[in-house]
Amino acid sequence: MKEHFKLNNDVKIPSLGFGTWQSPDGEIAINSIKTAIASGYRHIDAAAIYNNEKSIGLGIKNCGIEREELFVTSKLWNTERGYNTALKAFNKSLKDLNLEYLDLYLIHWPASSNQFKNWEKINSDSWRAMEELYKEGRIRAIGVSNFHQHHLEPLMENAEILPAVNQIEYHPGFTQNDCVKFCKENNILVEAWSPLGTGRVLENEILKSIAVKYNKSVAQLCIRWALQNAILPLPKSITPSRIQENFDVFDFEISESDMTTINRMDSFGFSGLNPDSVDF
Ligand code: A2P
Repeated sequence: MKEHFKLNNDVKIPSLGFGTWQSPDGEIAINSIKTAIASGYRHIDAAAIYNNEKSIGLGIKNCGIEREELFVTSKLWNTERGYNTALKAFNKSLKDLNLEYLDLYLIHWPASSNQFKNWEKINSDSWRAMEELYKEGRIRAIGVSNFHQHHLEPLMENAEILPAVNQIEYHPGFTQNDCVKFCKENNILVEAWSPLGTGRVLENEILKSIAVKYNKSVAQLCIRWALQNAILPLPKSITPSRIQENFDVFDFEISESDMTTINRMDSFGFSGLNPDSVDF
């Protein structure tokens, strides 16, 4: 298992990232970053809407690791879509994180036809701002999140720079096979948010029976399974022992038959957040 994936612009991205969604702002978020970096993570997945970017920035500043050794992502929130607003939102995230540049910036959710008549234009306008920031060297790679094929296609038609990443919900029981196939065919790296189904998949009996064979936890099994499917997992935890546990996934290999069993599990654990029907 490689320690990095390579993006379509040749930028290297650490193959396991640390999720920060639902990390409470303040000491908890600051300490979770420090613990994650001490445990070996070099990739932090943040977002403006998580409301903790200042704390994440403090954690990064005081972690004792050079900025260049870290890979930091943030995301453009839905209320900031469009060209000028996206530029402003990027600057705010950068300031809150107290950084000079971002490694990756994503459109957090697509504008969709459910909410906007001109949804394609809105997405392309946000994208144009991100392309500009990329060309200025202020972001090393740009991408999207929660985009399905029908959101990606019009964006890609109008784009000068193709998305490097699509971050989607992905865990056993929710594998979005069509979306993953499209991304892989188009050289877009898929990242997994909620790789543990935000805890919903951890008590599953099939997963428990497989994990025990490798002397690993179900959480470790889910993370390793994503990696072996060439998907970049972003597990979140604020608990030091779990932060460490979730990084300890590079010393075992899930067999082909167990991979198939997990890949074919019936649908379960979906968050219910569909980009075409969300109301935010
Ligand atoms: P906590 O942050 O309190 O440690 P996901 O990354 O899929 O969104 O899952 C995050 C949720 O799973 C959080 O509630 C987190 O709790 C919990 N969690 C993270 N790692 C583990 C683990 N190794 N074992 C059990 N629960 C975990």
